[in-house]
Amino acid sequence: MAGRIPDQFIDELLARTDITDVVASRISLKKTGQNYSALCPFHNEKSPSFSLNPNKQFYYCFGCGAGGNAISFVMEHDHLDFVDAIETLAKDAGMEVPKEQGAPDRYEQNAELLKRLSESAQFYQQQLTQSPHKIKATDYLSKDRGLSGQIAKVFGLGFAPPGWDNLLKKVGTRAESQEQLLRGGMLIEKKDQPGHYYDRFRDRIIFPIRDSRGRVIAFGGRAFGDEKPKYLNSPETPVFQKSQELYGLFEAKQNTKVLDQILVVEGYMDVIVLAQHGITNAVATLGTSVNSQHIRKLFKLVSKVVLCFDGDKAGRAAAIRGLEAALPVMQDEKQIRFLFLPDGEDPDSLVRSEGEDAFNHRLEDAHSLSHVLFDHARSQVTLGDEEGEAQFARNAMAMIQQMPKELTFRSVLIRQLSEQSGIDSDTLGNTSIKTVRQSNYEPQANAHGQDSTPQGGYDDHLPPSMGYEEYDDSYQPLDIPQDAYSGQQQAPNSGKKGSKFGNKGRFKNNQDSPANFPPAPSSLSRIKQASLCLLLHPHIATQVDVPDPLINRSEEDLQIFCKIWRFFHKYPKKNVGHLLTELQDSMTLAAIFSLLNHQDAATKQKISNAQQEVADMISALEKNLGLNTSIERLKNKGNESIKDNSSKQELRDLMDILRRKKS
Ligand code: UTP
Ligand code: MN
Repeated sequence: MAGRIPDQFIDELLARTDITDVVASRISLKKTGQNYSALCPFHNEKSPSFSLNPNKQFYYCFGCGAGGNAISFVMEHDHLDFVDAIETLAKDAGMEVPKEQGAPDRYEQNAELLKRLSESAQFYQQQLTQSPHKIKATDYLSKDRGLSGQIAKVFGLGFAPPGWDNLLKKVGTRAESQEQLLRGGMLIEKKDQPGHYYDRFRDRIIFPIRDSRGRVIAFGGRAFGDEKPKYLNSPETPVFQKSQELYGLFEAKQNTKVLDQILVVEGYMDVIVLAQHGITNAVATLGTSVNSQHIRKLFKLVSKVVLCFDGDKAGRAAAIRGLEAALPVMQDEKQIRFLFLPDGEDPDSLVRSEGEDAFNHRLEDAHSLSHVLFDHARSQVTLGDEEGEAQFARNAMAMIQQMPKELTFRSVLIRQLSEQSGIDSDTLGNTSIKTVRQSNYEPQANAHGQDSTPQGGYDDHLPPSMGYEEYDDSYQPLDIPQDAYSGQQQAPNSGKKGSKFGNKGRFKNNQDSPANFPPAPSSLSRIKQASLCLLLHPHIATQVDVPDPLINRSEEDLQIFCKIWRFFHKYPKKNVGHLLTELQDSMTLAAIFSLLNHQDAATKQKISNAQQEVADMISALEKNLGLNTSIERLKNKGNESIKDNSSKQELRDLMDILRRKKS
């Protein structure tokens, strides 16, 4: 692992770097007074809300709230971690990054190997245009697989021509380079002739596998016909551990304008064909099922991950493995969802037959984690009686307890489980864990069972505590005290999925809300009353409209109202149960629980003029919208220095931008 970068160096680097150059080399800026403005690169917008202040060396977006200095800009824009961003900026500033007592990292140690792998990738790519057999390859890519030349270039696709020593003769010209090619898995030593080698990849389409910084670290090679294996992959090498890498991650970062969600699919071709159809944010595991490390890596980059599975039995089993991998690495602000494809389809075939929009619709409707978790817990229940409910609760708790303890989302799931099973949350929360944790990781094959490569090599860039976390499929029973089941008398609805949040079965009182949820206040603000009306009468959402300026405001109560409105506006057939299951944002969830538990809920449930109440609240708010509130918003949402008295001029400049935007 590389050493730590001294703080002093970072200060020096920031002093020598001008954020204006950094930003201007990446997006186009327009001078507006003392500041610059631009279309924000971190969210989609049509008029500029991104503002850059060269004096203070910071940027801020009024649309999405992104803000920071040159380092954070490079991190966010180039999708780099802190160290990589520092290195990028240092290179531009002509500075060398010093490392405190650091050993060279694995890339420095393997610089030669990486060089040979990069040369190999170039060689294979050239063969697509230069090999005497090239027609076979180009026909396969364009005619059989429908790929454009452009997309083949984006992914660096290549061709390993037939023959035993094409690569050897071209890249392995010297003993040292042969040695590196051997280390990198590109050559195989002849059994009967030690010291003599032949090419691993022959007569195949080549998919270079890049790490998240774009360095070629391995290859996949697809056979043209039915030869076995269909895909031949590089073995594990000093720079390639297949269970840690995700195919297409670098390309997704490069080619997706606003990367806030990543889709995980199974195959190389799925990633490429999706990208050709405009869905550039897909990555694939490399013949293994998705594991906790993959998800952790993705959560560092994006807040939403969608795992994509075949609709068949193998796909469902793989989804459960995905669920188990996700639970221990869940975080409150992150979301994981599950997309099941129709039987017999993969993303490649599906996006080609139904197009980008239809595929995106599927993505939007992907199942939430709680949906899959409760479904799975229910599917293992054999009895239809109280004992069945207890089985269900035990199964679900065994999974919920894999999540970090401090998660609000975990309390929310326990709460939901309590509603579904009739066992109170405290009892569920106190059940002790008896799941079996495997101490040694064994690579899991993907749904198609390919995974023959032995695990090997190094694991030097992860501390031991971050090792693999894989869980046994069969959960041990939990200790739920017997008296827990007495709760069932109070919950006649228990067991009927979804019935709990229907218009009749609201939360009865505060008693069984998890400790994390604050008790509801005795009188509700107007906005909260309107939110409650929406929650209890979701159909209102399609009858009233919320104007844009309201949606974009920062007041928490209003944001929650808008979230509720947007959900029911978009899904008129769904109820509060759906909303709670699908919401992943813990603040909003807590607020909604608190509203549903409020004493006013009983009256609001019965009133006939709920729609009028909501409409009135909206128009009252609209009237209040004015310049004063815009200033307030700036102050509330802005960077600390916007609040600073000495920054009045700047505030005025920003106000100008805002005014121009509004007119
Ligand atoms: P699939 O067998 O589902 O193939 O393998 P695919 O992606 O649909 O491929 P095409 O469309 O027939 O070309 C999914 C993934 O499993 C790994 C590869 O990573 C592949 O992309 N795999 C598959 C192997 O490693 N070896 C194999 O022999 C087959
Ligand atoms: Mn396929």
